[in-house]
Amino acid sequence: MGPEAEPYTNRIFADLELVRKDAVYLLAESDSDEFDDETRLARLDIGQYMNGDDSAKEAFSQALGSSMRTLGFAILTGHGIDASLYEDAARLASAFFAERSPEEKARFVCPDRRTRGYTPPDLFARTGVLTMLEDFRVDLAHDDPAFASAIPWPSDELRRLFGTYMKEHQRLLLPITQSLLQYMGCAPSLYDERMARCEALLRWNYYPPVLDQGGATLRSRFMAHEDIGLFTLLPCPSARGLQLLARDTGKWIRVTGLEPNDIVLNIGDTFQRISQDVLVSTTHRVSASREELAQPRISFPLGVYLANDDSIEPLDSPLVPESAVRYAPIKAGDLRRQLLRKFRF
Ligand SMILES: [Fe+2]
Repeated sequence: MGPEAEPYTNRIFADLELVRKDAVYLLAESDSDEFDDETRLARLDIGQYMNGDDSAKEAFSQALGSSMRTLGFAILTGHGIDASLYEDAARLASAFFAERSPEEKARFVCPDRRTRGYTPPDLFARTGVLTMLEDFRVDLAHDDPAFASAIPWPSDELRRLFGTYMKEHQRLLLPITQSLLQYMGCAPSLYDERMARCEALLRWNYYPPVLDQGGATLRSRFMAHEDIGLFTLLPCPSARGLQLLARDTGKWIRVTGLEPNDIVLNIGDTFQRISQDVLVSTTHRVSASREELAQPRISFPLGVYLANDDSIEPLDSPLVPESAVRYAPIKAGDLRRQLLRKFRF
């Protein structure tokens, strides 16, 4: 994109969207961006829901639901996951991505691409955002019999850590879903069966240092976007540079002040559609200064998706206005395929 070209906005994806999105925003960072430095994400103790009595569960549900209704983001504490897991993950990821040669890493690409493994770096600047990203990912459950054998693991230590990582975070998926359903005035167990077959996709993203931008003045490590699935968990060390767009003011909120084992939770398009727009799939991006771009960045988002054959249908909730035009049912796999096209633009 030349300097004289019109900057890209999210309107280029308007034909793909499957939930209501009123905001118009630039995909790349801009000098005209405005910031809200006052608003903080709510820090909520999910232990209240996991271990508490009925009134503790209700209090957590109300707090989480109202955060997801206004900002679409919250910080989870009290989940019982030790911050050392994130330190180990960062250490192993750094050793794999930064210290192995491209030829060595290429040995860990999954032959059939279905269970993933390593994906080599891809440089894309098609939306005016320079993104250089390689990743290692798994889309099998940690207790799937194929977990150990289907993916070419670089080391037993990495396989064990991935397994532990997924197991520890998967404990949180049901309490998160149940509490959001409770907030919506639905039976908390309504999605229990669907969550038992949901897909939790763990990605280890590595953004290599960008030392030469070829004279361009592109910024951002990842363009502004909304997530596709039910929700995403992003542990604290991954959140460096994370910014979200407040719907009501159009200002960007920097996510700062996190504790070492905080987990950032945000709603994706699937849950917005199920909740009939009550819960918001909020726009976010990874910002980077020139100095920041010269450093590598590692992140470990865990995206949670309904199984491809499950139908996404609006909840019968007292929070949905009677005048709302209900979304038609759509298969989770169809929604995902359509929305993924935004990231291949
Ligand atoms: Fe995201």
